[in-house]
Amino acid sequence: MVNYVEAATAPLKNTGAIRIYGPEAFDGMRKACQLTARCLDALVPIIEPGVTTEAIDNFVFEFGMDHGALPATLNYRGYTKSSCTSINHVVCHGIPNDKPLKDGDIVNVDVTFILDGWHGDSSRMYPVGNVKRAGIRLMEVTHECLMRGIEVVKPGVRTGAIGEAIQTYAEAQRCSVVRDFCGHGVGALFHDAPNILHYGRASDGPEIREGMIFTIEPMINLGRPHVKVLSDGWTAVTRDRSLTAQYEHTVGVTADGCEIFTLSPAGLDRPGLD
Ligand code: MF3
Ligand code: CO
Ligand code: CO
Repeated sequence: MVNYVEAATAPLKNTGAIRIYGPEAFDGMRKACQLTARCLDALVPIIEPGVTTEAIDNFVFEFGMDHGALPATLNYRGYTKSSCTSINHVVCHGIPNDKPLKDGDIVNVDVTFILDGWHGDSSRMYPVGNVKRAGIRLMEVTHECLMRGIEVVKPGVRTGAIGEAIQTYAEAQRCSVVRDFCGHGVGALFHDAPNILHYGRASDGPEIREGMIFTIEPMINLGRPHVKVLSDGWTAVTRDRSLTAQYEHTVGVTADGCEIFTLSPAGLDRPGLD
């Protein structure tokens, strides 16, 4: 059974109920999400061969501090960085380190800022130097998956419509959808109900209602969909070591569709793609 609750009066923990947010929350989320988007914009000229993911992470931390925001991942369930940096066959939750990026890498940077209690969660792919055609194509397909998922969001359809749109497109492009991680409710909490699956059927999942806020963040592989988590307890990689990509937006459901809170104010939602 699905439960919907007025976010303003509900307890601040994930009870499985789906929060319905009002206009003040939408204002707060707009601000938090735009800060995250501006940080991801500012990374575009910084990410190039030789730069370490630690340097990227430090930039994210400083950007947050400079704007009165805290990175939500810092000390989240034992995670100690301000961002996730996932390179090539790393699906998600790559931990920033002192290894320099190499020419031809593709890297996802995932940032969540908490501003005035609101969580703005977004990620993009960044090409490092000259990326081979397969990598460019995977990034294009993955961004298109995200946008096709967002396109179907409106009150009355089920969350499964998002998954169906993404899976149908990804598989038509001979790519596969990672099943082990999903999008999530977000807002006053970092990870909240409902789960947003990136595969499945339109008849699956709870009904989408106006005032819901959640992420869509498909992870798409060139090879098989299976992943494993490395011994650090975080880094998820494709089992077949095939290339993988991910983009993430936070959206708020409106009367007739949704608002993408994390859209780039500079039009840099797909760095390196035309
Ligand atoms: N930002 C990620 C997401 O999109 C979550 C990262 S949690 C961490 O949901 F602990 F790995 F950082
Ligand atoms: Co997320
Ligand atoms: Co994220």
